[in-house]
Amino acid sequence: KFERTVIGVALLVSALFIFSLLYAMGAKKGDVTECLPYDKSYEDARVNQVDKNTYQIFYVARMWNFEPSVVYIPVGSEVDFFVTSKDVVHGFDISEKNVNLMGVQGAVAKTTVKFDKPGVYKITCHEFCGTGHQNMQAEVIVN
Ligand code: CUA
Repeated sequence: KFERTVIGVALLVSALFIFSLLYAMGAKKGDVTECLPYDKSYEDARVNQVDKNTYQIFYVARMWNFEPSVVYIPVGSEVDFFVTSKDVVHGFDISEKNVNLMGVQGAVAKTTVKFDKPGVYKITCHEFCGTGHQNMQAEVIVN
């Protein structure tokens, strides 16, 4: 009788584990990210103001920095982020904004974020990319 209870609990625990795993995978799929056709212009790191409150920022990741490293934008801006890499695979994470992209050479990832609150938004590389990985970051300063 006791063994049955133990087996039951074990099954329940593994079922919960599998469920949470599937749930996490589903959540990841829900990210608003797009993959676009690639061309060489994405290797040109730059900020492009589209109109008063709309910006495009083209990031180039390489060991071990992002370019542009600091960008200033006004509060209320909507920003399209484009990310590519010049070498290995890098991460592009803005945790406060739930942004989680990959910088991959020969490909570009895109997402759009609205910045309604002033602050310093840290961009960090969350994909291990070598000895300088932990210092690989950039900032978006909203004011
Ligand atoms: Cu780039 Cu870690």
